[in-house]
Amino acid sequence: MKALILVGGFGTRLRPLTLSVPKPLVDFANKPMILHQIEALKDVGVTEVVLAINYQPEVKASHSQISILQLRLCLLKKASFYFLQVMLNFLKEFETKLGIKITCSQETEPLGTAGPLALARDQLIDGSGDPFFVLNSDVISEYPFEELIQFHKSHGGEGTIMVTKVDEPSKYGVVVMEEETGKVERFVEKPKMFVGNKINAGIYLLNPSVLDRIQLRPTSIEKEVFPQIAADQRLFAMVLPGFWMDIGQPRDYITGLRLYLTSLRKKSPSKLSTGSHIVGNVLVHESAVIGEGCLLGPDVAIGPGCVVECGVRLSRCTVMRGVRIKKHACISNSIIGWHSTVGQWARVENMTILGEDVHVCDEIYSNGGVVLPHKEIKSSILKPEIVM
Ligand SMILES: *[C@@H]1O[C@H](CO)[C@@H](O)[C@H](O)[C@H]1NC(C)=O
Repeated sequence: MKALILVGGFGTRLRPLTLSVPKPLVDFANKPMILHQIEALKDVGVTEVVLAINYQPEVKASHSQISILQLRLCLLKKASFYFLQVMLNFLKEFETKLGIKITCSQETEPLGTAGPLALARDQLIDGSGDPFFVLNSDVISEYPFEELIQFHKSHGGEGTIMVTKVDEPSKYGVVVMEEETGKVERFVEKPKMFVGNKINAGIYLLNPSVLDRIQLRPTSIEKEVFPQIAADQRLFAMVLPGFWMDIGQPRDYITGLRLYLTSLRKKSPSKLSTGSHIVGNVLVHESAVIGEGCLLGPDVAIGPGCVVECGVRLSRCTVMRGVRIKKHACISNSIIGWHSTVGQWARVENMTILGEDVHVCDEIYSNGGVVLPHKEIKSSILKPEIVM
């Protein structure tokens, strides 16, 4: 079987992390995001993954004052070819390690969410008639692909989409389906009145015939292709068991880590740390060194080669590869990028995001600082702001 992963640009919402690596390579729970998906696909017998890289026409900046950042992002856009190379080089390594073929399909004009499938048509069809997977690279979940395949075979339709239940369906596109069979009846975009609470989870299994419905032009799979298949009564939906999160932005990334670790606790509890210094779910890479008298958790991931000195307090945070956290520092609700250091007695909180190789001096306070790579922070950041 084959799979296509839609890689949505280079991730301005996850900057400053995405100033160092393409978004799919940003670590999540000690592993590049996209590897979670590729490994799960490999487990159900997928032999080739096509990465469909979205063209990014413009950089949307949410803060008016950040012209330097914009400039950097423009350079970054020019460097997108370079980033693509970085990604492919990285994934080459995993091609051999995992024994799975990874190819790339890059659009040169924006093609929406369906156009990339038409573009990759020849890569997706292999004459076997097997259905293929389509995933959105930002989505993290338990990936119950085996159940998805079984359900898809059982209903005999052209496509299956996974749906997930949300509390506030009015913010999303809601999928209205027959409860018994899962047959999709219609889609309602941001409903004002309650029509259901199941939304498109961005995980599909589609027959090759679906490609005949997609033209090579900018087109939306959600708004154009799926409604058409549903009208022919050939589209089915399966409720995704377990958690689901789009981790394309920091707050959701942190929430996603909590959900992921909760799920890991159920599935493979031995991967989580234990001991009197641990609270809740904590994932520590085997090569990380933890000092005496620390208190870690809940919902913490500590990456390879990290050094956490004595008396450190960590909760709801991600500490990426090669970070050093000095004595008695306290970090909560934050992401610490690769090879950064946090000084002793420093306090880092409220969605602080440190890019790669940032150095926070001793006794500094950071309240929601978003710090670009290679910076030294010598004075406290008292309210959420971008530090360049
Ligand atoms: C935390 O950050 C949010 C914005 O991200 C801000 O509105 C809030 O005031 C901050 N909290 C504190 C205690 O400053």
